[in-house]
Amino acid sequence: MLELRQLKSHNKHLGARMVFQGQHILSIDQLDRDAVERILQVADLMHPYVAREKSCRVLEGAVLANMFFEPSTRTRISFGTAFNLLGGHVRETVGMSTSSLAKGESLYDTAQVLSTYADVVAMRHPQAGSVAEFAAGSKIPVINGGDGPNEHPTQALLDIYTIFNELNRIHKGTENLRIAMMGDLKNGRTVHSLTQLLCVFPNVEFTFVAPNALAMPEKVLAVCDKYNHRVTITDSLDDGLHSQDVIYQTRIQEERFETQREADLYRGKYRLNQSGYEKFCDPNTIIMHPLPRDSRPEANELSDDMNDNPNLAIFRQAYFGVKVRMALFALVLGVEDKLSQFETPVAWHSNKI
Ligand code: NCD
Repeated sequence: MLELRQLKSHNKHLGARMVFQGQHILSIDQLDRDAVERILQVADLMHPYVAREKSCRVLEGAVLANMFFEPSTRTRISFGTAFNLLGGHVRETVGMSTSSLAKGESLYDTAQVLSTYADVVAMRHPQAGSVAEFAAGSKIPVINGGDGPNEHPTQALLDIYTIFNELNRIHKGTENLRIAMMGDLKNGRTVHSLTQLLCVFPNVEFTFVAPNALAMPEKVLAVCDKYNHRVTITDSLDDGLHSQDVIYQTRIQEERFETQREADLYRGKYRLNQSGYEKFCDPNTIIMHPLPRDSRPEANELSDDMNDNPNLAIFRQAYFGVKVRMALFALVLGVEDKLSQFETPVAWHSNKI
């Protein structure tokens, strides 16, 4: 049984001698480098289960409340799959209109109720700060699946897991990383969280490519400053593409604009395709995107003519998301050292690698 006192500070810093068990995961600012490395180590342990080489029942009987009040495919399904792959059950609410929030219920009341139904909550909500507000009323750990334009910590963790794996794949070291983030840096919660997460590693060189109106928020730039990382800010795509290890493309977050007309001013402004890649990027530049990419012709921010480019890591990102979310569940529920005791062989046919 998780104890309420463990959850008192929902902004608890998870550091070197961290105790993940019973904690909320709400913001990157809770994590130092040791905490991040611990999560990534535990994610590695999940490989046999995600690859369907073995199955694991360590969370047999546990319940995840998967509460998604904004559209989602990857994040929602991968939280659910992650919990299922550890043997747990998943109960979901999708969309605001089908939940009691539409009847005026407060996040506090919903949190109190769900605390008696489930063992852990994953939540996405359109308002910045809402998941933390919910967590304040929760007696069980809450994991932030995206709170409006604010943060998306689990995406940042899967992104950094992908970056390290990709650098390893192309035999590059992880020191002195050069990364360009482009698109809607103002409203894109994934780039807010990823930038802050990379800041705890040494010598990162950031290039932020965006129209002035969609520039990276000062709050995030201040974190780069605090850690003394080099930052270049530009609105030129060509300037942003060369001399990078990683290019992280993002979608114009049209749902955060006052009008569609305003969003349309920026959709399609920064496009990356195979010929641009060959012309401007260093060989083996890794291409990432949190997905979904907006593939409608007027946007087409990451062209599908790159699908055969071996350095396009977008689907590996999505795949790694399951491992990273399994790691977080295992850590906050305190079973990360018990996985092998609950393993069984896989009985069904699987084509998974
Ligand atoms: C992102 C999100 O929801 O912030 N998607 C995701 O979770 N992988 C990015 C986006 O919607 O553009």
